[in-house]
Amino acid sequence: MKKPVSDLSEWQTVEHTANYLAKAEKLPHRAEAEAALLDQIPPKVTRILDLGTGDGLTLALVKQRHPEAESVGLDFSEPMLLQAKKRFANDQHVKLVMHDFNLPLPASELGCFDAVVSSLAIHHLHHERKRQLYQEVFDLLNPDGVFCNLEHVASPTQRAHLKCLAKVGMTPETEDPSNKTLDVETQLGWLRQIGFVDVDCYWKWLEVALLVGYKP
Ligand SMILES: C[S@@+](CC[C@H](N)C(=O)[O-])C[C@H]1O[C@@H](n2cnc3c(N)ncnc32)[C@H](O)[C@@H]1O
Repeated sequence: MKKPVSDLSEWQTVEHTANYLAKAEKLPHRAEAEAALLDQIPPKVTRILDLGTGDGLTLALVKQRHPEAESVGLDFSEPMLLQAKKRFANDQHVKLVMHDFNLPLPASELGCFDAVVSSLAIHHLHHERKRQLYQEVFDLLNPDGVFCNLEHVASPTQRAHLKCLAKVGMTPETEDPSNKTLDVETQLGWLRQIGFVDVDCYWKWLEVALLVGYKP
């Protein structure tokens, strides 16, 4: 594994990652969202990339449907990657890559993919970098490949944001300071400009949205 470029994020700490992992599977409507994501993945995929894989929760679900697919889980958090390593200890088809996606994706190391997934990760990037990353994802996809981004998106107003926080048992004081959420429309627009087709929000609950586009 390569060393992370930056160790300034709270995601590098055992405490922050453990707090997230303790509640990750209990996030409201998570199973519904994941089912919607799985539905968008073509029946035959040979290579899958998960951006911000964490402990590999989403990648493991995709792998249940596509056990033979060669998979790459990318993250910059050592504590998260240690958990992912445990999860996939017996799976020779999974490779874990330590990389900070604030920097360009290591395209030659990664290769090409039929599906790129991401769950609750890309909203940690500045908006300009989000758009660049979407372009890099497009460039890594094979024709007919899919990008499924199950993302934490922005509420339309502060009032709606506060309501959403309350629903997940949080307050402005306890919410993750590294969140840089952005509205759905802007992100769908970027995906279309980049060249993705069939772009839409395929599922949404408050600030969690499944943004999908296919490479023609
Ligand atoms: C909220 S967790 C989601 C983990 C997992 N995808 C899930 O759905 O449970 C966000 C993940 O994104 C990773 N992450 C955040 N910023 C990142 C960056 N700049 N480069 C790589 N990974 C990043 C964190 O380390 C963490 O594992």
